[in-house]
This record gives sequence, structure tokens and C-alpha cells, in this order.
Amino acid sequence: MKEIFQPNPAFAQHARIGSMEAYHSLMNKAKDDYEGFWAEYADEKIEWLSPYNKVLDESNAPFYQWFTDGKLNVSNQCIDRHLADKGDKTAILFEGDRGDVEKITYRDLSQRVNQFANLLKNKFGIKKGDRVVLYMPMIPEAAYAMLACARIGAIHSIVFGGFSSEALRDRIEDATAKLIITADGAYRKGKPYLLKPVVDEALQNPVESVEAVLVVKRNNEEIHWEEGRDHDYNALIGDESDECAFEPMDSEDPLFLLYTSGSTGKPKGVQHSTAGYILWAQMTMEWVFDVQGDDVFWCTADIGWITGHTYIVYGPLAAGTTTVMFEGVPTYPDAGRAWKMVEEHKISQFYTAPTAIRVLHKMGEDEPAKYDLSSLKVLGTVGEPIDPPAWIWYHEAVGGGKCAIVDTWWQTETGGHMISPLPGATPIKPACATYPLPGIMAEIIDKDGNPKEVGETGLLCITKPWPSMIRTIWGDPQRYEKSYFGDAVKDGKPVYFSGDGANMDEEGYITITGRMDDVINVSGHRMGTAEIEAVVNEDTYVAEVAVVGRPHDIKGESIFIYIVLKGDPEKDMKKHINSLLAEYIGNIAKADDIVVVPGLPKTRSGKIMRRILRSIAKGEAITQDTSTLEDPAVVAQIEEAVKNA
Ligand code: PRX
Repeated sequence: MKEIFQPNPAFAQHARIGSMEAYHSLMNKAKDDYEGFWAEYADEKIEWLSPYNKVLDESNAPFYQWFTDGKLNVSNQCIDRHLADKGDKTAILFEGDRGDVEKITYRDLSQRVNQFANLLKNKFGIKKGDRVVLYMPMIPEAAYAMLACARIGAIHSIVFGGFSSEALRDRIEDATAKLIITADGAYRKGKPYLLKPVVDEALQNPVESVEAVLVVKRNNEEIHWEEGRDHDYNALIGDESDECAFEPMDSEDPLFLLYTSGSTGKPKGVQHSTAGYILWAQMTMEWVFDVQGDDVFWCTADIGWITGHTYIVYGPLAAGTTTVMFEGVPTYPDAGRAWKMVEEHKISQFYTAPTAIRVLHKMGEDEPAKYDLSSLKVLGTVGEPIDPPAWIWYHEAVGGGKCAIVDTWWQTETGGHMISPLPGATPIKPACATYPLPGIMAEIIDKDGNPKEVGETGLLCITKPWPSMIRTIWGDPQRYEKSYFGDAVKDGKPVYFSGDGANMDEEGYITITGRMDDVINVSGHRMGTAEIEAVVNEDTYVAEVAVVGRPHDIKGESIFIYIVLKGDPEKDMKKHINSLLAEYIGNIAKADDIVVVPGLPKTRSGKIMRRILRSIAKGEAITQDTSTLEDPAVVAQIEEAVKNA
């Protein structure tokens, strides 16, 4: 049995949910009257411009609708409604890579977002429903751009700055974006780097829908300028008024698209809604991080991922808290950078990925002790499983043994946290996501909806729709239905399957066991093996390819590629394949291992037995039955090739 860490009583006393009794009572309320439960929070948290008619409309399942016909605006939720009592409070605390700090109050934020919104409308003719792609570094203008889109009803689609020009172009085309917002570049590890050239390359052959590129100047490095297409944000923004009325948006109007990888095909444009998304972003900030008063909240994610959307921008600002935005990396100039920032800014909640914790632990085990970290109240992890040694170091060395660690399980598609400890209530078992949040009906079942026994791994499903859930895949509703509602049925109704496996112990604690599909998780970044295979397959010398994940000490998983060659490439295939992956997807898709093998283990019907490939990559003995393989001898040959690689 795992050791249990009880909530800190001093913290629990003031926490919004301060005991397991309080948790169970909320959960029971949701079970007894699901719509009533959500309506209560929607009424309390959202400033409705006109009221909704129905809490949950299930008539067109699985295309669920929440708070139908209600009108609201997310930038009002995040800014305007706070101005009366929080105008002078810091909304965004920005720290640049080189240590430059800017404190942007809610009033400043209001002015800048209004100006930005006016610029989008007046200069670029952006209207409600238009798509705007952001390819931005971690600078405040990225948040202004998101909120400006929300203000006028444009749909933003942020592409992570680590993606290549090809990946960017695909996403621009899929969303038929009208405008691209980018920056010349930014700073990383003390040096300027460039982003704009990637946009130039993506648009080398013009994309029909793209009318303009708006460029924020961050490092003033020399960049190519396409007259007529490119526009200088810094030169234009001063002409715009800092007043801009917000657009009343329908609850179900899309707020943003965010592309993510699936087990098949090209990335999916996950579409999020307005009301349900912002409601849960705020509620989880309040429950899971329990932000209060003058708390300073720091989520280290990049705004290019869902964690950055929900827990750098939308959640913290909707909750009226101070959110930290950091341009740099936590290991520069040394492994004490993050802890120095915690001390200097008196950060109260710190939220990061297990990969970062492992790196900080390895590079600077004793660094936290050099700083005053007494401001910390809650620590969080996200994106991948955390291993107990990293958890214990985080708890002891960083949290001084007094902070709860919330191991938050969720996904791009869920919009916000789904399974997580509550810092003032849940007795925590290390490296365990613990219980579903109140209102979230998470169950571990088989594909027919039968619950799994204690300790047995099953499909982690959410058996009731929830407000911040994905609404559809942009432009491909059938794929939405098939990807998420095609695998499991409960009481005759298709239910949302996350793609993850999980099990539950005798006390109902949920442990995530990892993806059950062909998605791998590298440093908390989701990569579709099919996407990587599609790129490698394009090479003239590759006859066949199979990609699997291999456990990695720091990254959680690393990419392992098996290739079967045709012809003699007469070049270093590892270097070559990795340069293709960097070009077509981005550096994050580079493989640690690329092994040339004589063949792949296939069944007689031609299906690649990936389980065998995963075992070989891990260095495990093959225990699976190989008699059904077309050529069982290939297994030993692959093992030999891996050994000699
Ligand atoms: O496999 C799960 C893993 O990350 C996947 C979702 O990835 P993405 O959509 O990129 O969102 C990441 C940030 C929310 C999940 O299907 N995952 C996420 N959180 C955890 C996790 N695995 C284990 N423990 C977690 N806390």
C-alpha cells in the first residue's frame, strides 16, 4: 500500500473544498441533479448578457450543447468584470528570459486587449467566426491576441512555436485562417531566436485564405518583410482606441481551435466552446489550485498547448488572479531559475510537467534549498505520469513537505482538469491522480460498459458530457464521433473514451496507466505514431516503418523508429530521418532511436504487432505468442539489430 499524505490542516481550513465530506457532498449533488449542479455554478460564475434556456441539450448526442442560447463574452469574464475592484491588481506578471519583468494590471490588460481587438477589426477586417492563427513566443502580446480574438468573436488557433513551417502551414490551411499573428522572435537561454522565418516559409506558396501577417517586435532582429502582407504591430497599435465593446457570443460559439495528435491521420482541430469552457477553466482554478486573494499563480506550460490556454490565460484571468508568464526555460541561467522566480514573485501555486521536475531534480537537487520557497501553497503536475522519486523530491525539496501536489489528469479535449486531488481535501497517494472532480463522471470500464474490478486496467471513460468538453473536430464531425465515441458504450449509449487506460484501488483512487492507442507522450507532448510514420514513409529509401514509444528517464517516453530499407541509401539514415521529422513536424518529433531492421513482425493479415516492437525497444524478453506471425524468425533478427544499433 502506498504512503498517504494528508492535506495540510492550516491550508484545509481556508480551502474552498476543505474535507472529503465536502467533496462527497458536491459529488452527490452532481449525481442527484446533474443539470442543477452545473446551473448553480454557471449562474454564480458567468456574467450572462442574456440567460440560457437549457443547461444541457443531449438531443444531438454526442454533439452536446451546454447553456443553450445564453450570451456572454470570455474577455468580459477575464477582464472587464474584474475592473471595478481589481483594476490595479497585476493580471499578468511577465518575466523575460533575460530577467526583465513587466507587471500588467487588469486595467492595463483591458486597454491593451481593447486596442488589439480594434486593430483586428479596423485594420484587418476580422469578424466574428473568422479564424486567426497565432504562432507566438511566450510574451504578453500572445495573451492579448487570444483575448482580443475572444472579445470580437474570432476563433484563435495557436500553433506551438516548436512546430515546423510544414506543420504550421497544414494547420493554417485546415482552419482556413485569415490572419496570422506572430513575432520576429524572442529570447531563449540569453540569446535571440527567430519565429517569423518559419511563418515566411509556411506561406512561401501563398495560402489562399491568408490575407495578412501581423508581426510583434520582441527582439528586433532582422527579418524578411513582405510588403503588403506583413504588418508591424508595434507601429500600428498606438493608433487604436483602448475602448472596444465586446461581442455578445452564444454559449456554444467556438472560442478556439487547438490541434492535437490522434492515433490515426493528421492532427485534429479540437474545437472548444465559449460558456462551458470558461466556466470549467475558472472552477478548476478555484478548486484544484484554490487561488485566493493575492495569490500568484505560475503555470510553466507554453501557450501553444492546452495547459497554457486554460491555466496561463483563461482560467487564472477568469478567476481574477495574478498569472505568471515566463519567456525562458527554468534551467537558464542555472537550475535555480524557477526557484529564484518563486522567491522573487512570492509564487503561491506552481504547476509544471513531470519532465521539468525530473530535469530540475537531476540538474539541481539541492537548488530549492537556496531560496525562500515559503510562499508556495500548492504544487501541480500535468501531462504525463510522474514517478514516485520525482514526486517525493517535489514534495520535500520544493514544497517543504507542506504543500499538496495535485497530479492533474486531463487532455486537450477535456478543456480542464478531470481527475485530480483537491489540495485541502484529498489524502494523496504519490503519483496518483486520485478522484474525479465534483461533476465529472469518470469510470473505468470495458468496451461494453462493465466496470473493471479493483486493480484491473480498463478504458478510462467519461460517461456523462461535461461543460468544457470538446465540441467537435474542426471540419470533421464524423472523425469526432468515431475518435471519442466509437470505442465504448454504457447502458446502450456511446460514451467518451479518453484513449487512456487506468485502474482503481480498493479505496477508489484512480491511477492512469497511459495511452491505450498509438499515441506516445514525449516530455508531456502528445505525438501520433501514425503522423511520424507518414513522414518517414515519404522517404524514397524507406520500404516500411513502425514507430513506438520507449520509456525514458527524463522525457517519460522517447520516440523509437524501426525502418526497413529499400535500396542502399549510402547515408546516415538516423540523421536523415530526423532532419525530415524536424522539417515536417518540428524538433519535438525527432527520434532517439532509429534502427534499420530486415522486416517487421506482422500477422498473416499484414497487421504490425506493435506490442512486440515495444517490448524489444524496452529491452524486454518477448513473452507474447509469436506463432501467429507471418515470419516468427523476424523477431530474433530485430532483437539482434537493436542490440547492434
Ligand atoms: O495520456 C494522458 C496524458 O496526456 C494525455 C493528454 O495529452 P494532451 O492532450 O496533450 O494534454 C496534456 C495536458 C493536459 C492524456 O491522454 N496525461 C495528462 N495528464 C496526465 C497524463 N498522464 C498521467 N498523469 C497525468 N496527470
